[in-house]
Amino acid sequence: MDSNSAPSIIVFDDGLFKTLSSLNYSCKINWLKVESEDQSDTAAAIIMGEFVQKFHKKLLNSSCLVLADDESLQPDIKISNSFTPTQWQRTLELVIRLWLGKQHLEAIETDLSSLKQQQSDLSEISIALSAEKNLDKLLSMVLEEGRRLADCEGASLFLIHEQESSSELIFKLTLNESVESNFKEKRFPLNKKSLSGYVAITGETLNINDVYWLTGSEPYAFDSSFDESTGYKTRELLTMPMRNYDDKIIGVLQFLNRKNPEQNDESDPNSFNKDLCKTLSALASQAAVAIDNSLLIENIHNLFEGFVSASVKAIEARDPVTSGHSFRVADYTIELAQSLRKSGIAKFKNIHFSRDEIRELRYAALLHDFGKVGVSERVLVKSTKLDDSRLEILRFRIHWQKQKLQKDFYKKSLQLTHKVEREALAIQLKQIEEVLEEELRKLDYFEKLIDESNKPTILDKESHHHLCDLKCYQVDSAPWGESTLISEDDFLRLSVTRGSLTEQERLEIQSHVSHTYEYLLQIPWTPDLKNIPKIAAAHHEKLDGSGYPFGLSAAEIPVQSRVMTIADIYDALTARDRPYKSSLSAEISLDILQKEADKGLIDADLVKVFIEAEIYKLIPDQAV
Ligand SMILES: [Fe+2]
Ligand SMILES: [Fe+2]
Repeated sequence: MDSNSAPSIIVFDDGLFKTLSSLNYSCKINWLKVESEDQSDTAAAIIMGEFVQKFHKKLLNSSCLVLADDESLQPDIKISNSFTPTQWQRTLELVIRLWLGKQHLEAIETDLSSLKQQQSDLSEISIALSAEKNLDKLLSMVLEEGRRLADCEGASLFLIHEQESSSELIFKLTLNESVESNFKEKRFPLNKKSLSGYVAITGETLNINDVYWLTGSEPYAFDSSFDESTGYKTRELLTMPMRNYDDKIIGVLQFLNRKNPEQNDESDPNSFNKDLCKTLSALASQAAVAIDNSLLIENIHNLFEGFVSASVKAIEARDPVTSGHSFRVADYTIELAQSLRKSGIAKFKNIHFSRDEIRELRYAALLHDFGKVGVSERVLVKSTKLDDSRLEILRFRIHWQKQKLQKDFYKKSLQLTHKVEREALAIQLKQIEEVLEEELRKLDYFEKLIDESNKPTILDKESHHHLCDLKCYQVDSAPWGESTLISEDDFLRLSVTRGSLTEQERLEIQSHVSHTYEYLLQIPWTPDLKNIPKIAAAHHEKLDGSGYPFGLSAAEIPVQSRVMTIADIYDALTARDRPYKSSLSAEISLDILQKEADKGLIDADLVKVFIEAEIYKLIPDQAV
């Protein structure tokens, strides 16, 4: 113990002071006769005689031991004025040992309390880290909290990016409260040349008290470019690995320049002392686990995003004419949903979709027609009432009938030439020829009628009447075993007055929404995406309850589905990719939407926002 750090003993007694200070103790003691200004290092106060009355405990520090012969002072050690010099010597040596022990205990308590504080900070940070899902926010939090915990000026974070051939170290984030810099993420090959690279590869923590003292013989070197460009002076630098659950290093944390380093302890000379390093190492592990989780969640999102895109492409591959429809509906839907709050319409004032809800709505919109995979391709891609093979059969039958009529005519003509007199022959031949021509004209007309009726346009009453004539047309000895040219089934198909689908086919197409619901229910959605089946399955519901598949009432249709309905109808009207109908202009399509809203079928306020906020302009007018 040197003279400065030697404990002081105050002696409140003149005579005793002289006696004690003349004695030779085994340790150095600073003797003070009266109260000194700084009594923080006072080991003991010896109070005797007349000074008992003047003494006040507040004059002394809390760890000071009071030695007195008067019980009223509640001394720590009772003494007597009649002590011999040897007794004094032993007593005072005991006092010094006691005092040193007390000091040591206080130091341990201080360390313990600071460690407890660090532990408490660390557990609070851990909870906050595990709650943060956004990777960028998480990384900022790790750095900011780490810097606060380390009580240092700056901190940096690096992530390892593993690649098949060579891995990279990504300098992801840095902060320094003393200097401002225009930081941009950097990537560099992972090797041991840099401090961070060395730690990332070896897993060793580097605790350097002054980076400018590095000798150059180390495998790593300090990159001074930041100091040179900013004028900042890096001194202490602590670089430690971030290890995840599997003990795998996923990145590196770096802390620099402690602000208030504790007084150096010979056994632990580093500014970033052992206890702090342990705490920061725990933080680095917590951060690694949180980052790992966040990356995992991000990967799951990417995986799911890929799955949704692939599913949509698969649906649209079955029905190429509607390609791009789901993606466009998703774009319109999200844009409209995000415009509701700022529309100024009272009922949308409190509608705010969180990031997760927007994601949920986007997936629902992308998958709204997912159920089309359950609709037969024949119906799904049907653009005419009869498919090519059935049309061919009909044409063949008419052609066969024409040939039969002609054969019958020649046969009959031959018979007439043998049977009928010459004068009457010409007349009768002319008559049967006229009948033949009439029949052939009728069959020609039927051919044209079939072609026209086969188109998915509106079928007028006259054409329908003629189709009935075709149905009633009788044939003899036909090889197809029926007495009519057209089957009942084909007649019904051609008789569809609007579009190309029969009632049964229309119901099959409509069943895609029920399939959407059933299929989407099979997916074990996470809680934040659980409403996807319900939202997607209600895109053909109408506010008056006339929609399908459930015939929901207005109150039962989620607002997300109502938004999607507007997007779905608008895209179906304006889409350029359906060969059986020409696309309509934005103006006409918006007019149709408005009429639907006026009839109370779709949400009029949503249509208003769709028009006024010009959501429809999101995708250029496709009309041709
Ligand atoms: Fe649909
Ligand atoms: Fe759709």
